[in-house]
Amino acid sequence: MTTYVGAVDQGTTSTRFMIFDHAGQEVARHQLEHTQIMPKAGWVEHDPVEIWERTRSVIQTAMSKAGVTAADLAAVGITNQRETTVVWDRRTGRPYYNAIVWQDTRTDAIANRLEREGHGDLIRERTGLTPSPYFAGGKIKWLLENVDGLRAAAEAGDAIFGTTDSWLIWNLTGGTAGGSHITDVTNASRTMLMDLETCEWDTELLEVFDIPRSMLPEIKSSSEPEGYGTTDPQGPFGGDVALTGILGDQQAATVGQVCFAPGEAKNTYGTGNFMLLNTGTEPVRSKSGLLTTVAYRFGDEKPVYALEGSIAVTGSAVQWLRDQLGIISGASQSEALARQVEDNGGVYFVPAFSGLFAPYWRSDARGAIVGLSRYNTNAHVARATLEAICYQSRDVAEAMEADSGVKLEVLKVDGGVTANELCMQIQADVLGVEVSRPVVAETTCLGAAYAAGLAVGFWKDTDELRQNWAEAKRWSPEWDEEQRSSGYTKWKKAVERTLDWVDI
Ligand code: G3P
Repeated sequence: MTTYVGAVDQGTTSTRFMIFDHAGQEVARHQLEHTQIMPKAGWVEHDPVEIWERTRSVIQTAMSKAGVTAADLAAVGITNQRETTVVWDRRTGRPYYNAIVWQDTRTDAIANRLEREGHGDLIRERTGLTPSPYFAGGKIKWLLENVDGLRAAAEAGDAIFGTTDSWLIWNLTGGTAGGSHITDVTNASRTMLMDLETCEWDTELLEVFDIPRSMLPEIKSSSEPEGYGTTDPQGPFGGDVALTGILGDQQAATVGQVCFAPGEAKNTYGTGNFMLLNTGTEPVRSKSGLLTTVAYRFGDEKPVYALEGSIAVTGSAVQWLRDQLGIISGASQSEALARQVEDNGGVYFVPAFSGLFAPYWRSDARGAIVGLSRYNTNAHVARATLEAICYQSRDVAEAMEADSGVKLEVLKVDGGVTANELCMQIQADVLGVEVSRPVVAETTCLGAAYAAGLAVGFWKDTDELRQNWAEAKRWSPEWDEEQRSSGYTKWKKAVERTLDWVDI
């Protein structure tokens, strides 16, 4: 009897595999980090082979912890860091280059050129995205222009592109022995190459980017009754399991938080922060610096769209305190350090390491710590780092209210940083709204499991999924209006200090 659904979450810093039961409760998990390769300022790469090895290992370990075999899994879903670009040789399975990570800014000049040459409006109109080094299209173009022999291999149909969902599905379904080359509509919506309305690759955009169509995976829905293929019995599952769900990680968290009705929103606190608001089956165009993206598409139903506020650096600023400044030895220590002080002591930290994403979209911005005096200590910097996570979320929440006309009443949160109680309290203070965290905080994995399980009837419908959601904790604002507004004014001033910093 099959009793569980599994999900791989291939994230920016780590890969995990989780197994869930019918109530959406965790049965087992295993997680491994992979190397962050930073060859130059602004460049961020991953080794796709290391990611595949980590994936194999987390699947095997979690399954053996739980005593689960392939036969116990009704289906498996995949969720992934979006936009991160892998190009590999379908004959050998070898990548042509490291994966170029979504945070990497090397394609600034390509994004600028697209705007200068007058393609900006076409990209915005057709894809819902704003030209930026963030998205995959420019990264593919960079690889074609910079890796010897790649263009010829792409034109011959040997070099193929995928985000890490595609890379893993191809490997899990047999790799060089005939792996499936596919992606889902949510991942495809992050390339600057997909028409948001038809959910197909767009011929005109492929010409603008000069990318051969043969490189691109087939676009499927996020929950596929037919499946994307079955796992290779020689692979980590040790048997054949149906792969039936794929969602970009932020869309997966939206599904895991059961935001199925227009007006429902979630904010995920990971390496970056991503707030998504379900806007229903019609795409809503932003006037305030948000992106329009596909939230999910189940089977042959209409796609459901979202407005998204993407913030590049939030949890990774805490990692920076650990890895680069060495003022904490683990991410969880940021809370204890920040609690040593009552307030930020006048310090504001804008971690614009990859420029600024929503709602600013300024790739010329670079990070700044402002307001320092001799009185300040590491504790103020730690506190300012947590505040930066929350102020950046306020920036996108304001844009969302402006675009949708809907006033946020409760913010549903999830992701690793939500374990930081102080940060969540600051979030409620900075926004002036209640913040609510669910019992299952691993909503990204859960969302991918839901997409996979819905496809095979493990869960009947989205109403059944709603019943699995329960609140674990709620934070209420404690600051008064005066404190909230003066803090936000200073934050905005600090943001201005980061702009026009580098020439592109
Ligand atoms: O768009 C980038 C996003 O998908 C990365 O998410 O959780 O891996 O930082 P995360």
